[in-house]
Amino acid sequence: MSFTFEQYRRSADYILDRLGGFAPKIAMILGSGLGELGDTVENPIVIPYGDIPHFRASTAPGHKGQFVFGTLEGKSVAVMQGRMHHYEGYSYEEVSYAVRVLRLLGCETLIVTNAAGCVRTDWQAGELMLITDHIKMFSESPLRGENIPEFGVRFPDASKLYTPALREVAKEVAREQGITLREGVYFYCYGPQYETPAEIRAARILGGDAVGMSTAPEVIVAAHCGMQVLGFTLLSNMAAGILDQPLSEQEVLDAGRAARAQFSGLVRGCLARM
Ligand code: HPA
Repeated sequence: MSFTFEQYRRSADYILDRLGGFAPKIAMILGSGLGELGDTVENPIVIPYGDIPHFRASTAPGHKGQFVFGTLEGKSVAVMQGRMHHYEGYSYEEVSYAVRVLRLLGCETLIVTNAAGCVRTDWQAGELMLITDHIKMFSESPLRGENIPEFGVRFPDASKLYTPALREVAKEVAREQGITLREGVYFYCYGPQYETPAEIRAARILGGDAVGMSTAPEVIVAAHCGMQVLGFTLLSNMAAGILDQPLSEQEVLDAGRAARAQFSGLVRGCLARM
């Protein structure tokens, strides 16, 4: 199935109607256990995804499934508390649907966050990583199908998906706040099963520093329609096979809770400078 430009437009028009003149400039997609930042938005206007024409529900743990529009650090933001994933049964087009709607609302920048497994054995679970690039070459593109020229070109450049200038801002903010901010490549895996130890060794050889089940589809679509992107990963656990213990969803959510203050400070610091 392919969405048409008119469908994206209809979703955006519905939201614009409810916003009554509020115009978000910075969009944020908050991942597993990291959604609380959305609860601190000032003068919030909450819109559940289920209210919006053509939107899909978010069923993942720690994902509320709603937009919060309002102000954070003096910036007008559109926060997605929860995202859609391919493993929930959605196509990549459905997974990234909201990004194009956010663009139509006027958002020029996308901040994405996620929890992921740490592939690097010289890093530690609980640390934060600035995403410098990603690898998503073993699954189809969210741009597959007829191109919608209103959003972008057929063959978009992907050499700087994660905006270099925003990465510099993030590094500076991390330095000021005394946060260890790793820099690395996000290796996309379908899920929902966690990876096998052999897959993690393969990811490491191929240049991945963290493995996760989200983010890359949305970022491809955001860059396609001309948005700047800033991406953060919470390394919620050591990836499969590194420690002799099973991976669990609880561990991921607990890590999100533990990193909440640091993570919020980092994102807020970046917002303040954008
Ligand atoms: N693998 C994939 N996705 C994840 C992981 C992981 O180890 N941790 C949190 N999300």
